[in-house]
Amino acid sequence: MADCVGARSARCDPFSMTAHLFDPLRLGSLALANRIVIAPMCQYSAVDGTPGDWHLIHLGHLALSGAGLMILEATAVSAEGRITAGDLGLYDDANEAGLARVLGRSARSRRSRSRCRSRTPAARARAARRGTAVRK
Ligand SMILES: Cc1cc2nc3c(=O)[nH]c(=O)nc-3n(C[C@H](O)[C@H](O)[C@H](O)COP(=O)(O)O)c2cc1C
Repeated sequence: MADCVGARSARCDPFSMTAHLFDPLRLGSLALANRIVIAPMCQYSAVDGTPGDWHLIHLGHLALSGAGLMILEATAVSAEGRITAGDLGLYDDANEAGLARVLGRSARSRRSRSRCRSRTPAARARAARRGTAVRK
């Protein structure tokens, strides 16, 4: 916002159609489809640091939201480091397996949804305009 002070450029106008929210963004090696970021949100629902079905649904539906980046809730690297008993942890094998399940399934759902979207008539029309092929 610093470069907005005293300036009346389209870039600083929140009502301008030139807002960059839906523009891709590169952060180092990370390529984001847009600039919508889901903030980390403790769910206080882990059992001994391990995520369960609640996390699968919560993170799974956020993964399908279309946001460019999702940040996982606070995850303690030691049991003593948790703020509450319901915090996520990554200090034993059960924690690791639980996170792998939840994050793996969320990521797979997101990829398959992207594939579905790229096969809609509208997506095909966009691809045709861009001159890029869409697999059948
Ligand atoms: C219920 C709840 C849980 C949160 N859990 C975390 C968390 O696990 N890790 C973290 O860094 N921030 C956590 N936050 C902070 C949010 O990610 C966010 O930074 C904060 O709500 C301010 O967001 P805003 O700047 O968009 O208003 C939590 C906030 C809320 C309300």
